Order: sequence, then C-alpha cells, then structure tokens
Amino acid sequence: MVYRPILKLGHPLLRQPAESVSPTELQSPDTQQLIDDLIETMHNAQGAGLAAPQVGVSLRICVFEVNENPRYPWLPTIELTTLINPQVSALPTNDDHNAIEMYEGCLSIPGLRGKVRRSRLIDVDALDRTGASIHVRYEGAAAAVVQHEVDHLDGTLFVDRADTQTLTFETEYNRFIPLTARFWDGGNSL
Ligand code: NI
Repeated sequence: MVYRPILKLGHPLLRQPAESVSPTELQSPDTQQLIDDLIETMHNAQGAGLAAPQVGVSLRICVFEVNENPRYPWLPTIELTTLINPQVSALPTNDDHNAIEMYEGCLSIPGLRGKVRRSRLIDVDALDRTGASIHVRYEGAAAAVVQHEVDHLDGTLFVDRADTQTLTFETEYNRFIPLTARFWDGGNSL
C-alpha cells in the first residue's frame, strides 16, 4: 500500500466529473490497488473520506470510515465503505427535519471549514469493491459525509455549497465556533 499525494484546491482534476468504472476495470489489479491506497491515504490523513479524483484518478470511486475521528468529534461510527459509481437520492422526511447543517472540511482544502446544508436522509445505490450491488440508507451526519464524497465525483467541493459567511480557518474555528454550533440536525444540536 502507498500513501498517494492529495491534490489541493486549484488543481483542475478536482473540478472534472469523474468517469464511471466498468466491471472489468473494477476487477483490475490497478483499480483494486487504487482502492487500497485510497483507504490507506485516508487513514494516514485522518480523513473521514476520500475520493479517487483527490489522488488524481478521475474515476467514480470513494471511500469513507469514521471511528472517533478527532477532526469531527460529533460524527457517528461509520464502517469502512467503498462506493463505486454511487447514485444518491435524497428522501423526503418530516418538513422541518429534512436538512442537516455541519461545518465541513476537506483534505483537498486543508485548514478551512465552512457550514454546509445537506439532505439528512439519503439512499445510495452503488457497487462495492467486488462488483456486488449495494443499497444503503444514511441519515444525519453520516449522510453529510457520503454526500460530500459523492460530490467530489462530480467536481463539486464543499466550498461551493457552504454559506460563504461561515468560511473559517481551523484556528479561528477552534477559537470562535462552539461545539454546539458545529453540527445541527433538525434542531438536535450537540
Ligand atoms: Ni473532500
């Protein structure tokens, strides 16, 4: 396994919609190695997720895992997941409880946080790394993590969706944004 360099904001590849992965391509040693490297690189950088375009490969593959992440202490445990060609659909929930807001960060935009509003309940259809179809439902903060990663596959970054008035460097974030303001789930803040 290899830690791959993570592209930073401004690299054109981060803005390019990624290509779907064919079944043959998924089984190839190169793609399986890429998935291993994504996982290892994510762990090494203490990220909650990582998408292939962030390491310079324009394919629709992302990985995520949360297990007491010090960068996002409010996040629930999310088991290690690899999504290939994911499709996300937002599900309607109760009218005043259909969105969540949280301060997001990104390994491609180090040092910056900003508050993003997202759907709080989503269904995801994808393939796993073996090529099997998977269908998973995510809610709350986990849904935000998944939407952030899938956005990378379309060349969208959290700063595109953030309320620009909330953009903040990490030092100021730690100093001025109280824990209770970092994550809001339909009125149930921390
Ligand atoms: Ni990101």
